[in-house]
Amino acid sequence: MLTVRAPATSANLGSGFDVFGVALGRPADVVRVERAPETAITVTGAGSQYIPEDPAKNTVGAVADALDAPARIRIDKGVRPSSGLGSSASSAAAAAVALNELYDRGLSRRELVPIAAEGEALVSGEAHADNVAPSLLGGFTVVTDDGVTQIDASIPVVACLPDMAVSTRDAREVVPERAHMSDVVDTVGSAATLTIGMARNDPELVGRGMEDEIVTPERSALIDGYDRVREAAFEAGATGVTVSGAGPGVLATCYRSDRRAVAAAMVEAFDAVGVDSRAYQTVVG
Ligand code: HSE
Repeated sequence: MLTVRAPATSANLGSGFDVFGVALGRPADVVRVERAPETAITVTGAGSQYIPEDPAKNTVGAVADALDAPARIRIDKGVRPSSGLGSSASSAAAAAVALNELYDRGLSRRELVPIAAEGEALVSGEAHADNVAPSLLGGFTVVTDDGVTQIDASIPVVACLPDMAVSTRDAREVVPERAHMSDVVDTVGSAATLTIGMARNDPELVGRGMEDEIVTPERSALIDGYDRVREAAFEAGATGVTVSGAGPGVLATCYRSDRRAVAAAMVEAFDAVGVDSRAYQTVVG
């Protein structure tokens, strides 16, 4: 039996809609595989009751198909589904690495990105690689039609998960089809600032660079208490706050010394609007 752990991710970071992604130190999914004549999947852990075990409906089944690698696959979910932390991508990335090794396919991590994205297509309807790329490669990734660029950034973050579900499909429906040029210019400026911040491991620049005037205002409206949580995080020392992925997770960047206070402030702010939440103090990496 072969065991692989793949980290949660946050894909978007405000200004980088469908382009930027980061790997988080935790939470993570663990996938165990052994050869079998046909693929069979069992799922345990966070939110496992919402995940189909039928290989035709499970993201990992799509990966096994794409690699022509039938196996008995056990998924232990650390990353809750519909959280904004790339839950399906973590499973797909772990399965891609594990099955590639189990069947000696000899593919590199980069070559596994489109294969793991097949699993994403099953879940979200589109083969986005913005979550699977950082889960497979680590650090900060930029995914475009021309490929994936990666740097080993290290930025302290808090990922706060409210006890509510927002599906990626629903969150994509509120994305505006058009944007004002002034908002586009501001968001491009943010994206460039964020990229420089990642290259310099600078939490101030990364935080400032997460500001986005196009997608985040629409999506944050789907998260009860978002404005209050954002304000509380800034008051506790956050350098930037945005919706994690499609939500409802909320991501805050900060200096390491402020991380505990930022996490506590976010949980308290959700609590004040009657929403339970859990904050992961972690790091991009
Ligand atoms: N970037 C996607 C979104 C997440 O925000 O809808 C899933 O790839």
